[in-house]
Amino acid sequence: RMRLAVLTSGGDSAGMNAAVRAVVKAGIVKGWETYVVREGYEGLVRGNSVKISQHSPTKSVTTVPKSVQHNALVHNLRFGDGELLRSGEGDAAERSGGKNLKGRYIIRVGWDDVRGWMGEGGTLIGTARSAAFRTPEGRLTAAHNLIKEGIDALCVCGGDGSLTGADVFRAEWPSLVDQLRTKGEITEAQATAYAHLKIVGLVGSIDNDMCMTDMTIGAPTALQRICEAIDNINSTASSHSRAFVVEVMGRHCGWLALVAGVSAGADFIFIPERPPLGDPWEDEMCDAIGLASCSHRKEGKRKTIVIVAEGAHDAALKPIKAEYIKTVLTERLGLDTRVTQLGHVQRGGRPCAWDRILPTLQGVEAIKALMESTPETPSYMIGINQNKVIRVSLQEAVKMTKAVTTAIEARDWDKAMSLRDPEFAE
Ligand code: F6P
Repeated sequence: RMRLAVLTSGGDSAGMNAAVRAVVKAGIVKGWETYVVREGYEGLVRGNSVKISQHSPTKSVTTVPKSVQHNALVHNLRFGDGELLRSGEGDAAERSGGKNLKGRYIIRVGWDDVRGWMGEGGTLIGTARSAAFRTPEGRLTAAHNLIKEGIDALCVCGGDGSLTGADVFRAEWPSLVDQLRTKGEITEAQATAYAHLKIVGLVGSIDNDMCMTDMTIGAPTALQRICEAIDNINSTASSHSRAFVVEVMGRHCGWLALVAGVSAGADFIFIPERPPLGDPWEDEMCDAIGLASCSHRKEGKRKTIVIVAEGAHDAALKPIKAEYIKTVLTERLGLDTRVTQLGHVQRGGRPCAWDRILPTLQGVEAIKALMESTPETPSYMIGINQNKVIRVSLQEAVKMTKAVTTAIEARDWDKAMSLRDPEFAE
């Protein structure tokens, strides 16, 4: 029986739980044994230092709320050696250090363990930005841990950095297996049996920064949060005839800022892929805002909204910060200005409907891709293009995404925009 593990990595995003749920359930339907890896790649490196026989399933059942106990009981009946992920209320530290999970990061799960996960925010299996996995030694240990658990298929749900990690792991896998064989850590038979790691990527990130897919899991919910926040800001801004500079997340990607500007309304936006090219840019902004705001105040327009992506910079790549924009608006245009940094409220909370549908459809496709995976086929990233769930080469997508950063560094704005999204480039 094939054994499949799924992990979430990097910044959490709404819809990651729906992705894990879909992968686990679709995997079970195909007759696979399904596992989750807690704490992202960090969990892969840590592996399972405690043997399953040391765990008493009844013990874990007594520590959890009734509704979950029921799931655990059904699960244990059906799968026998399954473990329970949700060890009750409490904070993440308690959950991840909880008795029933201590020393175990690669956990067998069944159908009922992921019941009710569709609408939960964040990622219930935990995530991390693992320094250890970035080292060759860390990846060697991760490979060993997977082989020790008999896992031959891996699904990674994460953003740009996490999928780059998946691509490196994929490329190194034959050499990792060879090193483990040479060191005597695995047998010849294991080296043959695990010669090919099936790996697939699901793009989970609020940033929508991955090339070759129209949308990443979590971006629609984050956008919704931003829209709601700007709707709220609008009423207080109008009441006081004020300007607001709203800083949104997105790391090096301007999608959230750009599309929030379209959907919530903005007088000016700053995005990394295409900075204002006026020299100096302050004049360009003041000309545009002066027209859109100051002169319009006389006609009754009582608010001004500027959206700045957290990774925004000027044409010389010098960061543009919200506080500085406020100073310019205040001093040059005389606008009573406030700054709102939306921060992690954009990332947390329940997924919107689209962030349940998208990961579900993509999770099922990920299983299909893994089933058809051979040493000759490329490793896939599951994307969406013009409303169709698609498979693209993970390697290509990672390469193209890196090319955006290179284009920004080279200050080739047209290229940066068209690599991100040809339609927006126009
Ligand atoms: O990649 C997702 C993201 O939310 C970015 O938009 C942001 O730059 C970063 O993660 C914040 O990371 P952290 O949660 O570690 O502060």
